[in-house]
Amino acid sequence: MYSIWKRFVKKDASSDLTDRIQRIREFGVPQHIAIIMDGNGRWAKKRALPRVAGHHEGMKVVRKITRMANQLGVSALTVYAFSTENWKRPKTEVEYLMKLPEEFLGSFLPELIRENVRVEMIGDFTTLPAHTQRAVQKAIDDTKDNDGLVLNFALNYGSRAEIVKGVNNVLKDAQKGILKGDISEDVFSRYLMTSTLPDPDLLIRTSGEIRLSNFMLWQLAYTELWFTEVLWPDFNETHLLEAIEVYQKRARRYGGV
Ligand code: FPP
Repeated sequence: MYSIWKRFVKKDASSDLTDRIQRIREFGVPQHIAIIMDGNGRWAKKRALPRVAGHHEGMKVVRKITRMANQLGVSALTVYAFSTENWKRPKTEVEYLMKLPEEFLGSFLPELIRENVRVEMIGDFTTLPAHTQRAVQKAIDDTKDNDGLVLNFALNYGSRAEIVKGVNNVLKDAQKGILKGDISEDVFSRYLMTSTLPDPDLLIRTSGEIRLSNFMLWQLAYTELWFTEVLWPDFNETHLLEAIEVYQKRARRYGGV
């Protein structure tokens, strides 16, 4: 009797979402998701707001997406928060972007600690302003023993610079005799800033731009790419689920048949 009744009761949206998350988990979630969060400026412009308002809204989306990635059981989430090229932006915008990690981590760090999220960073740490370094270092230190989702900030990151740095370190180790003869792809990977992470399975770029913008060029060799017109501040949990569902339907052959 009860089961007949249940069939005719319309399920509410939250239980639909729970079912959808459950299905996605059963199918196997991408271990590592990387995101190029683009479109903050256009989002602000559409609303006649200053560009930084878009970045602020974008920061809130990082929080939502981190929570959902954690709920899904994703191992690593890399977000491109500031590129080595972004220094070319107006000084006030750069200063604003450099304050966002403090604001984000200032309020979100206790939850990250509690939820077993480990904060990491790729990019040139040394040339970040001291206040940004302090905020990021504190988050890294305070979450270092967590072994759940890795929330990896690409901050002051550029893939070509990362590769060149890796090559220079290979040369140094060869001179010291630590490396002998030719090196393999696996060995080279250990010289990149992502040495402790698996390569991304899924790359998401928002705002309709179809390019990689110097992001994880080595690591994305076999990654499934998903582009959406949605501007980053409008991106939400459902968009993430949609991207993962598309990913799950793709056959990854890694060059095989
Ligand atoms: C690109 O959009 C976005 C950025 C350069 C900054 C991304 C930063 C965030 C989303 C904030 C997250 C930060 C933390 C610390 C959580 P754009 O400004 O190039 O947009 P446009 O192409 O529309 O101008």
